[in-house]
Formats: sequence, C-alpha cells, structure tokens
Amino acid sequence: MKNGEISVKKIKNKKDTAETSFEIRILRKKRNEHTQYWQTFLYSPKEENETVATALKALNDMEDLKDVEGHEAEPVIWENSCLQKKCGACAMVINGCPGLACDTRLSDLKKPVILEPLHKFPVAADLMVNREVMFQNLTVLEAWLNQQAAPAEGKNHDAHEASICLQCGCCLEVCPNYASDGSFFGMAAMVPASRVLIQMSEEEKSNLKDAYKKHIYEGCGKSLACQNICPAGINIQGLMARSNAAAVWKLFSRLRKKS
Ligand code: SF4
Ligand code: SF4
Ligand code: FES
Repeated sequence: MKNGEISVKKIKNKKDTAETSFEIRILRKKRNEHTQYWQTFLYSPKEENETVATALKALNDMEDLKDVEGHEAEPVIWENSCLQKKCGACAMVINGCPGLACDTRLSDLKKPVILEPLHKFPVAADLMVNREVMFQNLTVLEAWLNQQAAPAEGKNHDAHEASICLQCGCCLEVCPNYASDGSFFGMAAMVPASRVLIQMSEEEKSNLKDAYKKHIYEGCGKSLACQNICPAGINIQGLMARSNAAAVWKLFSRLRKKS
C-alpha cells in the first residue's frame, strides 16, 4: 500500500470515529465536597440504539477511564437499578431536559451530550441526587390506606395510571412553583395522593383532603409545564383535574351548601 493511501485511510477513519462517537459532558461533584466541575468523555457506541445508561456503564467499566484531554478520571457516580424504565433511579437532566438515562437513546440526542444531576434535589455526588424529600412529602400528606380498599367503580383506570409513578422527580424539575424547601409538593405528590383518594372511604379522606389542598392544590399555578415530561407517560393534566375534583371541588361545593 502506498503512503498516500495510508493517509487517506487514516483521515477517513478519524472522520468515521468523529461521526459515530459522542462527546459526553458531565457536571460532576465529589462526595462530601461542594464544588461542581465539568468533565468531558469521548464514547463510541458498539451497537445501534445504545442509551445514555449504556454509555455511562461502559465508561465506568473501562479499566483506566480518561477524559477527553487524557486526564485520569474517577468512575461517574449515578443511580440505576432496573435499566428498564421501571424504577426512576436513573433520572437526570439530559441536554437540558429531565429524563431517564435508561430510556434515552444517544442517537436521539444532539452532540455534545450534556448530563447534569436533577437541580431540585441536593446533589450527593456527580449525577446522583438525594430524593428523600419526595418520600417525606408523602408522609406529610399521609398518602396511604389504613384499611383494605379498592378503587371506586369506574376509577380503575385512574388508579392504575397513578400506580405507575416512578417517583423519579422529572415533573418537579420543570415545575416553576416547586422548591424542595417549599410547602408545594408538586405532581410527584399529587399522583400517589390521587391513587389513595380514589380508594379511600369518604370518612377516611378528610385529613388527606386538607393536606392535598394546602400542599398540592393551592401551590399549583396550572402552567402544565409538567404535562409532557413524565417518563412513565402519566396524563398529569387529566389525573390532576379528577384528583382536584375529588379532594377540593367537592369540598367547596359541600361548604357552599352549608353557607
Ligand atoms: S401545572 Fe405547573 S405549577 Fe402545577 S405542578 Fe405542573 S408545572 Fe408545576
Ligand atoms: S408523575 Fe411522572 S415525572 Fe412525576 S415523579 Fe411520577 S413518574 Fe416521575
Ligand atoms: S434504571 Fe430504573 S428507570 Fe432507569
């Protein structure tokens, strides 16, 4: 093979790699430190349809992980469990939009791929956040059943839809009214609360109704920024309308009748 042919092949290989590889920029933070910093990696998928989760796993499986500048790098800390869009653990901000790493294909993303931890929760390390506040909020609402119950007639669909909430927190990320230290609990609380409301007896509902009104209904600006973000595909607008009716509007009509 002549020298000229070798250089043409080298240039072509370089171009192929640039076309098929992804620059992945990650906003990182070491455990127990406050400072966040950016680090960029180059990743070439081995197969079509690889996800952000596949890329993160592959980077962490490398024996000597190096960033794009050739500096040694620590494995990237992120949460995952099912890798099947069922647990919500891998939620993060991907190219500015909250989503699940295991459900986001690299080929659907613009380059460079930018990964950040969810902004509405304290960052534990790298892409891992502490979502405890969501579970604390459910405790404040007392969103649980104290006795055996079943969805009211005709409410099976709503109960099933509410049950698929992953508690991922993506809806809170896009909500202009939600802050982790605020009294508005957002849709991550509305969805599980609605499931319980559907099943509770009228007598049992009163505590939950009061808490629902205070922590969900009153704080929601109905902007519906959260409507199309849910990775579980929950129809938040529809569920919210029916849940508000069950928890608040009937309450108002009862008060109106009394006055
Ligand atoms: S409707 Fe708007 S204010 Fe209400 S939870 Fe969704 S994003 Fe937040
Ligand atoms: S409603 Fe959707 S976006 Fe919000 S926590 Fe549940 S699964 Fe996640
Ligand atoms: S790892 Fe469970 S939803 Fe992504």
